[in-house]
Amino acid sequence: MCGIVGHLGSSHSIDLVLEGLKRLEYRGYDSAGISFNKQSGALEIYKKQGKLSNLVDFLGDIKEFNALSCIGHTRWATHGEVSDANSHPHTDGGISIVHNGIIENAEDLRTELVAHGYKFQSQTDSEVFLALLSTTVAKGTPLQEAITSNFSKLDGNSAFVILDSKTSDIWAIKKGAPLVCGLHEVNSDALVSSDPYALVGFADKLYFPQDNVLCHLSAGNKNLINFYEMDGTKSDRYMSKKQEMSLEVSDKGSFDHFMLKEIYEQPGLIRALTKYYFDGEGQETLNNISKLKPGRFLINACGTANYAGLVVKDYIEKFNKIPCQVDLASEFRYRNPLILKDDIGLFVSQSGETADTLAAQNLCKQGGIKTLSIVNVEGSTLYRDCDYNLLIRAGIEIGVASTKAFTQQALTGRLLSHALGDGVDKKSLKDKFNLLATRIDELLSRAEELKSIAESIHHFKGFFYTGRGALYPVALEGALKLKEIAYVHAEGYASGELKHGPIALIDEEMVNVALVAPELLDKTISNVEEIKARKGNIVVIGPQNDANSKRVADYFFGLNYEGLGELSAVYCNVANQILAYYMARFKGTDIDKPRNLAKSVTVE
Ligand code: F6R
Repeated sequence: MCGIVGHLGSSHSIDLVLEGLKRLEYRGYDSAGISFNKQSGALEIYKKQGKLSNLVDFLGDIKEFNALSCIGHTRWATHGEVSDANSHPHTDGGISIVHNGIIENAEDLRTELVAHGYKFQSQTDSEVFLALLSTTVAKGTPLQEAITSNFSKLDGNSAFVILDSKTSDIWAIKKGAPLVCGLHEVNSDALVSSDPYALVGFADKLYFPQDNVLCHLSAGNKNLINFYEMDGTKSDRYMSKKQEMSLEVSDKGSFDHFMLKEIYEQPGLIRALTKYYFDGEGQETLNNISKLKPGRFLINACGTANYAGLVVKDYIEKFNKIPCQVDLASEFRYRNPLILKDDIGLFVSQSGETADTLAAQNLCKQGGIKTLSIVNVEGSTLYRDCDYNLLIRAGIEIGVASTKAFTQQALTGRLLSHALGDGVDKKSLKDKFNLLATRIDELLSRAEELKSIAESIHHFKGFFYTGRGALYPVALEGALKLKEIAYVHAEGYASGELKHGPIALIDEEMVNVALVAPELLDKTISNVEEIKARKGNIVVIGPQNDANSKRVADYFFGLNYEGLGELSAVYCNVANQILAYYMARFKGTDIDKPRNLAKSVTVE
């Protein structure tokens, strides 16, 4: 979602902020802007709808200007259409702000401000905070006090970064939205961003403030960054860590898209995960987790992570006989869920910043139960807020459509079930993980077969992905991937469910991508026959030597499930990823940054 970068310190603030924003392009956005302070104290603002390159062209030579400090933003519209005026930063009275999140009571506040004569320049909720700030400061209140007193009037989750033209100082504050500060001690640079990735190479130390901690980046202060509580006293409510990320990971290498690169990274990541948790430092984490005695798991996540949660439920119920309930986090938070004292909240997330997942975690915390994450981003809000964390170690995922994170989330869930006592010996599970990596390597070496299927079917009007048992979550995920990147309507269904309604849609323009495993094979094939009888086009992704699967299929992709057992779901899912990727290629869509989507959904 919206990206924020701010810099204060040595020269080239503008260049540095633009470079930071460029790195955040992967998160999805529709406009970009910066504001900076000239030596004279004058505040300059430049903003443009569309790609960051539009802004860079618009800036022309200005970006060479030696600014004292600069803040920048990539906007993903929530309140107000995509336009130059609604782009951030917003400015008034020598103050400039950028915002990530939503002010839920913006309309009420706006009405009040308008009644007092305030003239708004945009339709955004963000400008409401600016209006509150500038009117408070105009009455003589110091900016620090104006920020804290007005921030507490806002409902909803938000992060703000504020540039004060009088001092060139930058202030930042957040509640329920990601924010990180960075420091480069040698260069005397202080930075702030919504994503630590923007700060790689610019800061060697990172600070993650908690909610309602005011961050002050100030050239006039020997610490460069200071943290304050809302009452103005010094705060120690922040976590600090060394910046360990590198930029190399964000190179597409020889791949045409990040998504494809990330799909191909999977075998290597599985091997690394296996090593880490079976033989490396991860053993200690699993050891700690093994002491938990959950009566039930309340699993919460959104989108792809939710489907990975369904796979994890299968593992835990099958191997540990611990009941699991999987919720969409956006529903869980408002449905008055029953939280029992022996429950453990389990949250699955790539970013660790998804607003609904964080709210579900908070609800569990308030319910007095322990919380555990299966998460990719170390130091993310979810990571910091949970009592226990299992890192999925997928590395940065740049493609907006999640691929490698799903695989690593499901496998980390399998490790959780192992740690809780699954009766399976360590060596055989480790061998199975390594076998999965080998099988995915083999599958990827046959990607051309899936490409040719994609070429034959990409023009059809609608797609049903079907699967039974362990492959049901994979059917849901397969359909989601296709929708996201190929922009065609696709639905995931349990194989046996289609005839209870959706079969009415089947005709010669529809495709059934049937995911078939050795388990329940005959029943699944019978369901495929029902679609075939109604002239649906059949793609079977199924056991390589099964004559029945081949017979019913118009297009067949064989899988070697032998020895993979419960990991078969993860294996089959990779075929779906490749199929969706090539469908999108034939459709000519923007694969890494599909329209309307954002990488990390920090609003409800
Ligand atoms: C789909 C996708 C989304 C995310 C969802 C949760 O490809 O990426 O459905 O899975 O927004 O995001 P995280 O995992 O960051 O909580």
